[in-house]
Amino acid sequence: MASAAKTVWFLRHSQPVFSRQFKRFQSSEVRQGFLGTVGNTPLIHLKKISENTGCTILAKAEFLNSGGSVKDRAALFLIKDAQEKGLIGPGGTVVEGTAGNTGIGLAHMCLALGYKCVIYMPNNQSQEKIDALTTLGADVRPVPVAPFTDPNNYNHQARRFAESINNAVWTNQFDNTANRRAHIETTGPEIWRQTDGKVDAVTFGTGTGGTLAGVSMYLKDRNPKIKAILADPEGSVLYNWIKHGKLEREGTGSITEGIGQGRVTDNLKGADIDDAVHVTDKLAVEMTFRLLHEEGFFVGASSGLNVSAAVQVAQMLGPGHTIVTCLCDTGQRYYAKLFSRSVLESRGVLESIPEQYRSSLHD
Ligand SMILES: Cc1ncc(COP(=O)(O)O)c(C=O)c1O
Repeated sequence: MASAAKTVWFLRHSQPVFSRQFKRFQSSEVRQGFLGTVGNTPLIHLKKISENTGCTILAKAEFLNSGGSVKDRAALFLIKDAQEKGLIGPGGTVVEGTAGNTGIGLAHMCLALGYKCVIYMPNNQSQEKIDALTTLGADVRPVPVAPFTDPNNYNHQARRFAESINNAVWTNQFDNTANRRAHIETTGPEIWRQTDGKVDAVTFGTGTGGTLAGVSMYLKDRNPKIKAILADPEGSVLYNWIKHGKLEREGTGSITEGIGQGRVTDNLKGADIDDAVHVTDKLAVEMTFRLLHEEGFFVGASSGLNVSAAVQVAQMLGPGHTIVTCLCDTGQRYYAKLFSRSVLESRGVLESIPEQYRSSLHD
């Protein structure tokens, strides 16, 4: 074909080809960039762990979100909220106080959207999360652990820093209800669809309360009989709040990260929580290793705690029920701590791991 004819042919044919391709990539099977990879996680039947309970225990595979945790959902909705309210402009800075996972989700999204990211976190969180945040270009500021009532608490420091610079937003995951909206609009509907509405109870550990409140709000709207049960670690006040109406700590600190709370956040307020189960570190760690060796999932301790809570809920409800929880993040984020023999020994939880599963430990 002569070159002029080639040009005419190209002009005639290229447009439909390009638009056909564009339409093809608009298909629901194709995710739109990093933000499009959040949510729609598989719901997994934990066969062996369900077996002894006579119930069906299902877990949302939240570690499969692209940022690697359930908190990617909150991060997405917090950023969308800031954009919709005009709180951040091009090239702006997202500032958050986080135990790490929300920060990792935010840092990924900031890279994808051209924002800067500043993260304040308590200085007792895993090194792996700090390293991930730094690799993702975030300005990480570990600060001494302080209660929420202390002006030096990591959240207050994050707010003050955001207020001190131009074009910056403090996304405020604990009290900004855009967080739980992520679970009202995504996690809840996914669970309803994936179970065909056949779910009797949900149970989740609570950091901000976004997951538990949002999922239960959506599901109870579809079927008010679905039970929402808080799974609470050592050192948190929420178990006693649900059980006895008192904000009193049950136990001291926990090896779990990202969960446990000293107050009722705005994300948790107004949620209809039916009951609570307290999960000791021993039970959470034992289940984390059972998930690894019996089901093949390498996840963190908050996932172990969730599944251990689901077993307790199964025992409370009796055989024949379906209980949904989630596997929050990957165990790789806690390799140095949760998979260290000496750390587990020093915290008095080594003995809770069945002998045959201790081959996963390093010194
Ligand atoms: C590992 C992990 N699991 C669970 C949660 C709790 O989720 P939520 O904040 O929605 O209560 C968090 C929160 O940071 C987390 O980091």
